[in-house]
Amino acid sequence: MTVLEANSVTKQYSMGEVIVTALHEVSFNVVKGEFVAVMGPSGSGKSTLLHLLGGLDEPTSGEIALAGHPITHLSDDEVTVVRRRKVGFIFQFYNLVPTLTAAENVALPLLIDGQRIEKHQEKIDSLLAMVGLVERRDHKPDQMSGGQQQRVAIARAFVNDPEIVLADEPTGNLDSQSGTAILELLRQSAEALRQTIVMVTHDPRAASYADRVVFLKDGRIVQNLPIQAKSGESEDIRNIMRVMRELEL
Ligand SMILES: Nc1ncnc2c1ncn2[C@@H]1O[C@H](COP(=O)(O)OP(=O)(O)O)[C@@H](O)[C@H]1O
Ligand SMILES: [Mg+2]
Repeated sequence: MTVLEANSVTKQYSMGEVIVTALHEVSFNVVKGEFVAVMGPSGSGKSTLLHLLGGLDEPTSGEIALAGHPITHLSDDEVTVVRRRKVGFIFQFYNLVPTLTAAENVALPLLIDGQRIEKHQEKIDSLLAMVGLVERRDHKPDQMSGGQQQRVAIARAFVNDPEIVLADEPTGNLDSQSGTAILELLRQSAEALRQTIVMVTHDPRAASYADRVVFLKDGRIVQNLPIQAKSGESEDIRNIMRVMRELEL
């Protein structure tokens, strides 16, 4: 089942007189339970693609559909609701609210959606358990390590049972051990929960946890590489690096 469908998506930014084409007619499908990594050099359009897929920005042309429903041509209010209910975001710098506890940060998307938290306490606890942070539920972000904060951000991204989780360099700010824990969590959620995930990364090791890697160059998809072990194996990492060399990324 196709969860995400991008059809001939182009994104241009105008900077005064100059037009920058960040994406050129990109078409891209993701099926349920798939974990896809997007790689490419700085400026190749990775973040732009992720923002469009999550309804944070609109394409200049082309169509994007999430769970069979077009998100292009919706009003701002409609796309906001789609984003709240169907998309989970994970960013490089966690973006937790510093004055809220871990449990409150996880609950935040539900609060913003106007739901009553009391009804969801079990869910919040089970997500904190999934990311190994039950005993930190009442800690504020500044009382947690970067890796722990990113695990809170993962639990938060999952709290609305999203159709898709979009992650932009989720391990970019972490040491390798904390990064591995994040990647294993994402891998496990794709396996056990059939969570669909698109993750942007420039790190071949991070990408080697995905089912496949989509390579972007100058705003175009130039290669799609299936991953064998999907668990950080050196052979997969070597294959990714070989494709990067071949494509001169
Ligand atoms: N808000 C913006 N305004 C103008 N140009 C932008 C904007 N965001 C991105 N770009 C340009 O679009 C291209 C792709 O950027 P981006 O998607 O951030 O790439 P990546 O995430 O792969 O580094 C770059 O040339 C970048 O300078
Ligand atoms: Mg980026």
